[in-house]
Amino acid sequence: MSISTETDESARKEQAVTDKVLASFDSTASPRLREVVQSLVRHLHAFARDVRLTQAEWEAGIEFLTRTGHITNHRRQEFILLSDVLGLSMLTVAINAPATAGATESTVYGPFFVDAAPEIPFGGDIAGGASGTPCLVQGTVRSTDGTPVRGARIDVWEADDDGFYDVQYDGDRIAGRGWLRSDDEGRYRFWSVVPASYPIPADGPVGDLLTAAGRSPMRPAHLHFKVAAAGYRTLITHIFVAGDEHLDHDAVFGVKDSLVVDVVREDPGNAPDGTTRNEPWAQIRFDIVLTTGHEE
Ligand code: BEZ
Ligand code: FE
Repeated sequence: MSISTETDESARKEQAVTDKVLASFDSTASPRLREVVQSLVRHLHAFARDVRLTQAEWEAGIEFLTRTGHITNHRRQEFILLSDVLGLSMLTVAINAPATAGATESTVYGPFFVDAAPEIPFGGDIAGGASGTPCLVQGTVRSTDGTPVRGARIDVWEADDDGFYDVQYDGDRIAGRGWLRSDDEGRYRFWSVVPASYPIPADGPVGDLLTAAGRSPMRPAHLHFKVAAAGYRTLITHIFVAGDEHLDHDAVFGVKDSLVVDVVREDPGNAPDGTTRNEPWAQIRFDIVLTTGHEE
């Protein structure tokens, strides 16, 4: 048999495996599940052919995913982290982004949202003991046609000055998170701390992957928002701090220019909410524009 005939024969055998697997999903009752699974099989098989996957590499991949599962628990989601560093999370955000011009852009959710965050009043403080320079964050929530959105639920969460979320500490600490509602004019206002940059959890398999690739685990300083209102698409986003040294190499590819805001540093004195600050503080303005659609 000539070399090219042997190659043709191997390619035919490889394709026969793929075709058989694809056909095994032909009777999947849900058309969408069938589409997704068959496409996944096609792309997975194409990937294995593309890199000529060795048996040892297949085993290393299984071992990697096994470690990813073992380190995942109710406080740590290593699979989301893997999706994040592979850019799959941001690609999914891009695929599902609303086409509406003028709406605030979305970015990655991240693993540190907590349902049981405390409600805070308009102008209240979400710090809850988190370390950092006090920071007044305020703005409006509007529709793309400029109408104020009243009663929007605004969830916010952030790491402290040491780069850790409350859930990364032992115990049941709640700090650096809370939610409030926009007022009748669509305004919102709360105190927090100036966001800090931090590394994503890098002591697991995802961290090993970043190290092997010579990639930084750092995320630029940011504050997370989830904004929900009846009749509007729920917005998941962050604001990033202008000038942060990690803006151009976010480990999870979440930065968008429209989400980079100025943090204005202020000396002790009177703040615009009528309070007097005895220490240096800062302020951020962030106006939010929602697009109509379904809450998710
Ligand atoms: C975060 O911003 O909280 C985050 C996002 C993706 C991976 C890890 C952390
Ligand atoms: Fe974060």
